[in-house]
Amino acid sequence: MSQSLHFAVFGHPIAHSLSPQIHQAFARQFGIALDYRAIDAAPDDFADAVKGFFSDGDSCGANVTLPHKSAAFALADEHTQAATRAGTANVLTRLANGRLSAHNTDGGALVRDLTYRHDLDLRGHDTLLLGAGGAARAVAWALFEAGVQTLTIVNRSPEAADALADMIGEPARVHTRYWEDLAGIGSFDLIVNATSAGTLGQSLSLPFSLVGSRATCYDLGYGKSAFGFLAWARAAGARYAYDGLGMLVEQAADAFELWHGKRPDTEPVYQALRTQGS
Ligand code: ATR
Repeated sequence: MSQSLHFAVFGHPIAHSLSPQIHQAFARQFGIALDYRAIDAAPDDFADAVKGFFSDGDSCGANVTLPHKSAAFALADEHTQAATRAGTANVLTRLANGRLSAHNTDGGALVRDLTYRHDLDLRGHDTLLLGAGGAARAVAWALFEAGVQTLTIVNRSPEAADALADMIGEPARVHTRYWEDLAGIGSFDLIVNATSAGTLGQSLSLPFSLVGSRATCYDLGYGKSAFGFLAWARAAGARYAYDGLGMLVEQAADAFELWHGKRPDTEPVYQALRTQGS
């Protein structure tokens, strides 16, 4: 693509987003001079801000982060299967015909981070998914398709968990339990925290009994928002406890490839972010 094309990430707040840094680092791998900006849009202004951005003929694509992923899905003209399954989008791309396409790369990014960066063979894992919102919907499908043995979905509001399990429609492998029953549902090999509790500054009260002897615990968030869950996981004896920084870099790589037709090397970017303390 030409050097004058424009990209952005939309969020609220957005000042601390790592996406500009990640995309610039990817672009340097290929000698691409990138125009990638962070745009802060309050929820009421999001649709107009996106339309304004894409009204510029040089604007090709945008990443979308909290709290706009559902709104991004709603305003797009076309939706990939991954976006439709999640009901949310973290990537908006203007197609050649001018229509806006919504895509969700979060689920694939989680699976790649677990599988390739953390060397986890997901097949045969009894998996607990905490949450049933947009983030959980994106990763539930990806974990299921990656071959986890069972996927138990637990959400504070049970209706959302039931709806997600019903949508996947594989009752032998995917089922729900009540949040109130967490202490009595046994232990798991993989526990994924897809709730927004950490982002909201709230803590989850989870029993240690959930953590199996070889368990991996993963929080989709990173930085401060993941601290509480990861501290719980370590205290409960989890073998591995990971935050979602790797997933963030992987989802950015998917968007980069979609827009530039080139697959960046994520590892040096991930390591640099780790070193700088993200
Ligand atoms: P996201 O896009 O981050 O997934 P979301 O769609 O609003 O945001 O979903 C938030 C998820 O976090 C939901 O599963 C929510 O549970 P409810 O459906 O019961 O609201 C969950 N969540 C948020 N705060 C929580 C808390 N303090 N304890 C447990 N679950 C929480």
